[in-house]
Amino acid sequence: MSERPTKAILRVLNGEPVWPLPIWIMRQAGRYLPEYRETRKQAGSFLDLCYTSRLAEEVTLQPIRRFGFDASILFSDILVIPHALGQDVRFVENEGPKLDPITSAKDFSRLADELPLERLNPVFETLDRLSHSLPKETTLLGFCGAPWTVASYMIAGKGTPDQAPARLTAYRDPAFMASLIDRLVVASTAYLVRQIDAGAEAVQIFESFGSALPPALFDQLSLNPIRRMVEGLKSARPHAKAIVFVRGGGAHLRRFAEVGIGDGLALDWTLDPALVLPTLPASVATQGNLDPLALIAGGTPMEQGIDHILSAAKGRPHIFNLGHGILPETPVDHVAQLIARVRGA
Ligand code: CP3
Repeated sequence: MSERPTKAILRVLNGEPVWPLPIWIMRQAGRYLPEYRETRKQAGSFLDLCYTSRLAEEVTLQPIRRFGFDASILFSDILVIPHALGQDVRFVENEGPKLDPITSAKDFSRLADELPLERLNPVFETLDRLSHSLPKETTLLGFCGAPWTVASYMIAGKGTPDQAPARLTAYRDPAFMASLIDRLVVASTAYLVRQIDAGAEAVQIFESFGSALPPALFDQLSLNPIRRMVEGLKSARPHAKAIVFVRGGGAHLRRFAEVGIGDGLALDWTLDPALVLPTLPASVATQGNLDPLALIAGGTPMEQGIDHILSAAKGRPHIFNLGHGILPETPVDHVAQLIARVRGA
């Protein structure tokens, strides 16, 4: 693109160091905010909240109003893809997502071959509304889950320790696993392209369960599917920017950078940015990576954690974020202190 972006996050994703670091936080709309809990009561189920554009727009804007983050992430969930493909998905209060497990080729055959994009129209309408209602300096982010993470929910029907059901399926029935991953690559790419058309300026792909994969399965189930998605998105919409977050993918981070998968790579909180950032090409932006528990604790652990990231990232294209999503018990004051420290640096 010949036009240079003016929004801080887009400048960083173009490889430009920006100081003070721009900041947003994963799961920045959610239960730690009293105004979210209030709006949540107005929607029936959690999915109703995701599919009611007016309310989804409202909860997306709440953290922007309160904190003025540099990016706003669409309020939705990674599990709208299996839902749109025809799998039953429910969110049970205090238990998390529950799906009717897909464990065989027969269950799989009941899903749509092609993602019926119109089922996700409310999501695109939310993005369209946000592209008009956000402050002009705020970057609008879309997102989806990476195929392995979404597949692990589809197979187990819920969150599971170390994603054992999906991992076992990958060993026992590689053909079924490959076709499920392939379906998700195609569906998720089409979904991201449509999010860009609806107003998202960049997208983040969440591989929340990268840590579960042994080396023998990693490329096939995580790296290559994500690469196909990013390449598909960029060949369809060359101006679209992509951030890739592979939680537990530290050992593979350099390969993502070298292969050029994504404009930005997000680090989880286990990685030391002082060690990792110098090993990456300067052309790739990074994001992260304060421990969400340091944000809950506040005080010295939080301040030292922030300062360590700031000193490691100075002079590099980096977006300040947490190393994973913010937790519901996080004091709102600590978020305000975090932003003040990053912006005051
Ligand atoms: O503010 C934002 O970041 C945007 C919204 C967002 C949500 N989920 C809202 C949500 C995003 C980006 C997600 C992604 C998501 N969803 C991931 C990947 C990121 C990660 O944290 O690893 C995953 C694994 C999911 C699946 C999911 N959705 C789980 C496991 C749960 C239950 C756990 C929990 O935190 O309650 C959800 C529900 C969910 N998604 C909530 C929110 C705000 C809480 C539901 C409620 O309000 O009752």
